[in-house]
This record gives sequence, structure tokens and C-alpha cells, in this order.
Amino acid sequence: MRLAIAKEKRAGETRVAATPESVKKLKGLGLDITIEAGAGEGARFADADYQAAGATIAPDAAAALKDADIVLKVRGPDADEIGLLKKGAVLAALLAPHSEKDAIAALGAAGVTAFAMELLPRISRAQAMDVLSSQANLAGYKAVIDAAARFGRAMPMMMTAAGTIAPARVLVMGVGVAGLQAIATAKRLGAIVSATDVRPATKEQVESLGGTFVAVMDEEFAQAQTAGGYAKEMSPEYQAKQAALIADTIKKQDIIITTALIPGRKAPILVTEDMIKSMKSGSVIVDLAAGAGGNTPLSEADQTIEAHGVTIMGPTNLPGALATDASSLYARNLFNFVSLMVDKKSGDLAIDWNDEIIKGAAVAGAPAAEG
Ligand code: NAI
Repeated sequence: MRLAIAKEKRAGETRVAATPESVKKLKGLGLDITIEAGAGEGARFADADYQAAGATIAPDAAAALKDADIVLKVRGPDADEIGLLKKGAVLAALLAPHSEKDAIAALGAAGVTAFAMELLPRISRAQAMDVLSSQANLAGYKAVIDAAARFGRAMPMMMTAAGTIAPARVLVMGVGVAGLQAIATAKRLGAIVSATDVRPATKEQVESLGGTFVAVMDEEFAQAQTAGGYAKEMSPEYQAKQAALIADTIKKQDIIITTALIPGRKAPILVTEDMIKSMKSGSVIVDLAAGAGGNTPLSEADQTIEAHGVTIMGPTNLPGALATDASSLYARNLFNFVSLMVDKKSGDLAIDWNDEIIKGAAVAGAPAAEG
């Protein structure tokens, strides 16, 4: 059985779906591996290193993808690439299933069995395959680094003979995987860090990283906290009190990192234009939800703008700015996913359509979908 890796075609996509390390492991499953020449360039993996790991280098995408049984990619294939896939091929990539419905339909029409890595169920058995976590973790880190680079002041408190510099205040809004790493990174840089999330369970996580949780801590909050991990609808009175507290907190911040995403829906607005106006000149917002509409109304995907004296950055591919690490983690996630589908003895495809991981990620070619 042959597994192929094509060079990513999307502008700005520096990551690659396999590394020399993952090639070795994939070979260990009994697969032959073909890599399109230059596929690892953006992530600093040379063809020679893939070759040394046991892969064959193909001169172009057509040669790499032709007759491949399994194809791994970072982003979904374009129409040309879909045309190169053989009927019955298995594809795993970040297929953006909520927005790229036409491309997924085209994969189905081409007879491809396609898995959208974003849809893996978040159960403990799938953690080693969880691309959203591996990439969001890096995004959270890089968001703080980029904010600090843009910010015209220092992050830590500095006591010098010429006087004391106050530490920067960083607010992280949305404490999922990216938010937690943003908190940890901002703490390591010496900032005073606070954070907020609609899930009360995140309070302890924020505090364990040395941050302050911003919430109105009344009886209703305490009840929501004991009710379990997920956000419950709070009363209008609570929401009004919380909104006032957030507005007051935002005024005092130097840097805000927003990460709130709701899968398949437009991102919620967390920082209104009035709140942006209330911030000090020179403040920086990094909006990790800019690709999904943004957590501020002014965020623009892949742009850095300045409004009311505040810089607002809307990067949509921060993992791509750390392409070597992002690719290494992504490639391991994919190796773990592919291992599920390959019979260890024969090296043949053995897809267990009753496995909830397989079922959860399948977007085209699943037997149930055809039936
Ligand atoms: P995400 O990227 O979907 O969202 C980021 C955060 O924004 C979430 O914490 C969410 O509660 C928050 N948010 C949404 N709307 C908000 C609003 N209006 N105001 C403030 N915050 C808002 O989240 P991510 O990183 O994908 O993680 C979500 C959860 O899944 C976390 O609890 C995480 O620990 C859990 N998880 C579980 C895994 C597993 O068990 N295998 C693996 C990865 C994550």
C-alpha cells in the first residue's frame, strides 16, 4: 500500500503533513511512502532527509498522488489535486468541513474516503490524534509572542537605576487549548495575566497557571461551577454584571488575546468597538478567531490594523509561523490516526466503521453516508 504526501498549495501554508520522523513510523506500518519534491521546504525538512527516512521523492503532485492508497495533507486538496486522487483513496487533512462543503462534495463525487481531522471526537483515546489541540497550543503561544513584539513597552516589571517599568497587563478571553497556552506564555514573559471564559470550570485552570479569573463570583456563578464543565445559560442579571466587569477590566489591559470559537458558527463578539476605544493608545489585540468572523467587530483575517490607537491582529494561521514544530506535531497526530486504519500484520487498509473516531471524522466515502 502506498501513502503519499503532496506539497501544500495554499498561499502561506508552510506546514507539511509528514516529517522524516513520521515517515519512519509510517514505514513501520508496512506502507510505502512517496513525497512530492519540496513538500517539506516551508517547514525546513529537506527531500534528502525524507529519503534517508525511507521515502521515495516524486517530481510533482501528479506523480506523488497517482495511485496512492492513502493521502495525507495539511489543507484540503483543490480541484486539480482532487482530479489526481484515485477512486477509493483515503484522504486525511484539515478539510474545514463547516465552510468547504463544495470541496467535500467533490471528494465524495470522486470516490475518495475523506476524513476531516477537525471532527475527531474529543475523547481521551483520540488525544494523540487531536490536531485542533496540537495546533491551537502553538497558536496560543505565538499570539503572545507576536503581541509582545508589536507592543511598544516591556512585558515584565523591571526595576532599574533609572526607575521602575510596570509589568504589562494581559487578558486572555476564551480559555481552551490556545487560551491556556497564551496564559502560560504571558506569565513566563512576566506579565500580569487575567482570563475569562463562559465555562466556569476554567477558573481553576486559569488559577493553576497563575492567572486571575475574571468573573462575578456570586451565588449563581458558584452554582454554575458545581453544575459541571460546560457553560450554562446565566440569568440576564448575571450577564449584565459580568459584561460590566469585563468592560471595566478591558480598559486596564495592554494586551488582549481572544480565542473564543464556536465550531461551525460565527465567533462571538467579546470586545466591542466601544471597549476598544476605552483601551490605552498602544494596546494590542490578537484575535485568534479572525478567520471565523472575529471576536472583535474590527478584526480582519490575516491583517494587522490600527483603530482608536489599538493594534488589532487577525492571524488565521499562526501554527504556520512555527512550521517546523506545527508540522512535527501534526504529522504525529496523523500517524496515530493512520495507525488506526492499517492492519498491523498485513499492512492493508482495515477501516473499522464502528470506531467512533473513524465515524466522527469521516466526511465522504463512509458506508453509512453512501447507503
Ligand atoms: P475552542 O477553540 O472551541 O474555544 C476556545 C474557548 O473559548 C473555549 O474554552 C470556549 O469555552 C470559549 N468561549 C466560547 N464562547 C465564549 C464567550 N462568549 N466568551 C468567553 N469564552 C468563550 O476550544 P478548544 O481549545 O478547542 O477546547 C474546548 C474544550 O475542549 C476545552 O475544555 C478543552 O480542554 C477541551 N478539550 C478536550 C480534549 C479531550 O478530552 N480529548 C482535547 C482538547 C480539548
